[in-house]
Amino acid sequence: MCGIVGYIGHRDAYPIIINGLKRLEYRGYDSAGIALYDGTQIELAKTKGKVVDLEQRANGSISKKGTLGIGHTRWATHGVPNDANSHPHYSNSGELVIIHNGIIENYSSIKKELINRGYTFHSDTDTEVLVNLIEEIKKKESVKLGKAVQIALNQVVGAYAIAVFDKNKPNEIVVAKLGSPLAIGVGEDEFFIASDASPFIEFTNNAIYLEDEEMAIIRRGKDIKIRKIKNDKVVKPFVQELQLNIEQIEKGGYDHFMLKEIYEQPSVIKDTYRGRLLVDQGIIKLGGLEEYIPKFINADRIIIIACGTSWHAGLVAEYTFEDWARIPVEVEYASEFRYRNPVITEKDVVIAISQSGETADTLAAIKLAKKKGAFVYGICNVVGSTISRETHSGTYTHAGPEIGVASTKAFTTQITVLTMIALKLAHVKGTISKSDYMMHLHELDMIPTHVAAALKSNDKIKEIAKVFKDATNFLYLGRGYNFPVALEGALKLKEISYIHAEGYPAAEMKHGPIALIDEQMPVVVIAINSNHYGKVVSNIEEIKARKGKIIAVVTEGDTVVRELADYVMEVPKTPETLTPLVTTIPLQLLSYHIAVMLDRNVDQPRNLAKSVTVE
Ligand code: F6R
Repeated sequence: MCGIVGYIGHRDAYPIIINGLKRLEYRGYDSAGIALYDGTQIELAKTKGKVVDLEQRANGSISKKGTLGIGHTRWATHGVPNDANSHPHYSNSGELVIIHNGIIENYSSIKKELINRGYTFHSDTDTEVLVNLIEEIKKKESVKLGKAVQIALNQVVGAYAIAVFDKNKPNEIVVAKLGSPLAIGVGEDEFFIASDASPFIEFTNNAIYLEDEEMAIIRRGKDIKIRKIKNDKVVKPFVQELQLNIEQIEKGGYDHFMLKEIYEQPSVIKDTYRGRLLVDQGIIKLGGLEEYIPKFINADRIIIIACGTSWHAGLVAEYTFEDWARIPVEVEYASEFRYRNPVITEKDVVIAISQSGETADTLAAIKLAKKKGAFVYGICNVVGSTISRETHSGTYTHAGPEIGVASTKAFTTQITVLTMIALKLAHVKGTISKSDYMMHLHELDMIPTHVAAALKSNDKIKEIAKVFKDATNFLYLGRGYNFPVALEGALKLKEISYIHAEGYPAAEMKHGPIALIDEQMPVVVIAINSNHYGKVVSNIEEIKARKGKIIAVVTEGDTVVRELADYVMEVPKTPETLTPLVTTIPLQLLSYHIAVMLDRNVDQPRNLAKSVTVE
């Protein structure tokens, strides 16, 4: 979704904002813009397209001067992606300039009123309505920019992270947040504004994360004043020290962030369980969980809410929680759950999973569950994200920044955390034998080695990708623990190659999808050694009988499926319960190579956004 960047200080704002916008490209966008102010003249450049297109536009059209500036990458919601709808937007007088991430839901009634008062509009956006509302209030009430912003935000319904400045105030930027993220980097006599800390990490490690319904007046060379938008209460700024470093957000020699992140999995899975999985002592120690174990164990059921890939991780957890801890689990799409008037009681425990910690539907589902009295536990990757703050307790995945839009390492680290929680609960509850528990601790500790081994098949997978890159449909099949992996494999291929793919439980194939199978249809089957092996082999036979092409994920040393399949991708042996952590690796690589061969934008696939902050 949209990205925002701002700067006020003593340096040239242009390069800081342009580089910052590039760092936020992963969020997904279709246009970009920048406004600079040197105290005399405001300069603005914006365009449909990417930040490089913006740089070209800026080259001929503006002088790039100014130590105050704001920039934006837009992911279209109201109005098509074009130059006019791109941000920043001027107010009618040309004195106010705004950027906005979010949606103003009641913009059309406000727009009508403003038109009646003589305002004109040059775009279809809700944002241009907001900046003119601020202008109207400023004039009518004779108030300063900060007050006008506050009054305006009390009149709008929706979500926002905004930054706005006023030509009459060359030393001030006003920002505000509700539902969309906003971080303020605090340097020496300079401030940075951004959707996350990546745009300013080389300048400062100190950041303030605004809470929902807070606004800040940022003055050059002075302090930041934070207030509650609703009741004007002053809030003391809380400056956090960031753990992020510049290497984590660069490609490090890989062609794409996605490939880098796939290859990071052995080390980030280890980071996820480091200090938490104490194999020698037979202990799993999760800080956020310890005091809430009775809540989990005594829960009537666990409801897992998430979207997309995180939802797939939740599906894997349904198997481990029920299998080991014997607690009933339901896995819900957050977007459906929040609108379904679900039955939730104080005896339910809700687990919310989100890489970004900002997904609007997941956040709304959390708020609903809390309102109904449930205890809500968060599993997030982004430290300090809204979901991590909104939940009662939780565990971070520690996967490091995931920049490729298609989620890879977030998925495997989410499963790692969920596996540790399930094992811990089962152990405390006594529903897993001591030997099974200890065996799983040892095997979980082996997963980074197994993932590294699975990555060694990369060249072979590239060859397979070459054969199938022009297919127009794919079917992915898996059973039990690997049914969610089939869904995830299909999602990865769809997202980055734009090839239609469907994931299915293997046994369901004969209830419909088998009709699709002919010699044109590649079928990816997860056929590892498991309780279902024989049955999956039968499914493979059924596909072969209809001339489908089989690409199978098999356990090292497999002979039966190797005979039947057209191509195999091997993974090391691990207990069935942990197989999703390894079987997902070849599927990530297969999607990646097909997308590269088709010349797709792997890290920023069309129409997708990294954090979906609108519903
Ligand atoms: C898939 C993908 C999305 C996200 C989904 C939830 O590769 O990235 O499906 O998984 O938008 O996002 P988070 O986990 O940030 O809540």
